[in-house]
Amino acid sequence: MEDLLSHWSPASWRKKNAIQQVVYTDEEQLASILNQLSQQPALVTSWEIEALRNQLAEAAAGRRFLLQGGDCAERFEDCTVELIKNRLKILLQMSVILIYGLQMPVLRVGRFAGQYAKPRSDSHETRNGVSLPSYRGDNINAPAFTAEARIPDPQRLMQAYYCSAVQLNLVRALADAGFADLHNAENWNLSFAQGAPYIQSYQTIISKIHRALDFAKTVSDHPIGGLGRVTFYTSHEALHLPYEEVFTREVTHANAIYNLSTHMPWIGKRTLFADSAHVEYMRGIRNPVGIKIGHDMAPSDLIPLARFLNPLNDPGRLAMITRMGAAKVEDALPRLIEAVRGAGLNVLWCCDPMHGNTETAASGIKTRKFENILAELEAVIDMHARMKTILGGVHFELTGEDVTECVGGASGVEEEDLNQRYHSTVDPRLNVSQSLEMALRIAEKYQNMESA
Ligand code: PEP
Ligand code: CO
Repeated sequence: MEDLLSHWSPASWRKKNAIQQVVYTDEEQLASILNQLSQQPALVTSWEIEALRNQLAEAAAGRRFLLQGGDCAERFEDCTVELIKNRLKILLQMSVILIYGLQMPVLRVGRFAGQYAKPRSDSHETRNGVSLPSYRGDNINAPAFTAEARIPDPQRLMQAYYCSAVQLNLVRALADAGFADLHNAENWNLSFAQGAPYIQSYQTIISKIHRALDFAKTVSDHPIGGLGRVTFYTSHEALHLPYEEVFTREVTHANAIYNLSTHMPWIGKRTLFADSAHVEYMRGIRNPVGIKIGHDMAPSDLIPLARFLNPLNDPGRLAMITRMGAAKVEDALPRLIEAVRGAGLNVLWCCDPMHGNTETAASGIKTRKFENILAELEAVIDMHARMKTILGGVHFELTGEDVTECVGGASGVEEEDLNQRYHSTVDPRLNVSQSLEMALRIAEKYQNMESA
């Protein structure tokens, strides 16, 4: 592999092996849209990205915890106040539970405002003997099973940009305006979870937090400032490289080049290999970068990739997001941890307990079991504790809605319910109740470890 000093540009990925890329029928239209996008204002700032890098470095050191979550594949039609607000609310509720359970600040990174491009294992989808190109995410084609819907349309990139901007605008406004105020009762209302066995422990946590806040206020004799304001950073898989390229801009005061379409882009499992165009693209930007690591990643492949992406070994730059499957953690994780330790690499270890635990229900629908997701998380928490490394974050596919996509947990969703409200076009997400319960179970796990 080349080193830090070798030539890199926002377009140098074009000389590498670019898989999972879209073939457009009208290349001229694509070029014209990319040109228009290159003139548009960026979505995030270098200051925000630098702040995130610092916070991720703290997470790598065990002084902060990363909660990353959102849709598997965002839909343009989901760019509504209700859905955006509900997603922020569940991320906020989960983060408060984690702050309480882990006794440290939590950093919130959404899989939103840009999570539109999807890698696919199969280039085609077959239904009743009819085969069509796969749906690749809303910025490429549409999910309807018709030949027309599946044609890649460059105009969708423009729509992805606008939906990301509109969403980010609302997220910033809400996050800045008391939406997150811990005293705002509306945020803690759990009408969706009435009767769930976990409701008691949730309420206990919330009332303990309120008591602590009141106590601090009484002692300091004035209200505690800044509590209503939180920060949500954004992330998405930087899969569609021509789109990422036009948002890759030099920031002169920082003397660096950033991807300004999102704070934290990541490289998916399928595009993480030596000579990958995605790896080449990521190595030159200043943003923190996530890499998705499966059970089959060889340590001898991972170490050079990590060095290539983070040659200065900066602790806030690289998040290793393992996604192995509950049953494979025991076998696959220790050798990667050993190798990273042996190479002296500074990384932020995160756990995505979703993508290694996907299965097909008897009806043919894709699902995940709450119990398997939790089992992977617990196995990863235990493994890092055993190996004396730090798990600095978790990564979920979730929604603030009452969908029926994953089974299990107190929500009582069973396989035969999956058809009722299955809205995801790609992977199944934890619903609002399962998400909250997951956060409580993680908090409980850490509290038990503390007292053991
Ligand atoms: C995803 O995060 O939606 C995804 C496709 O993950 P992975 O690359 O880990 O399979
Ligand atoms: Co997914």
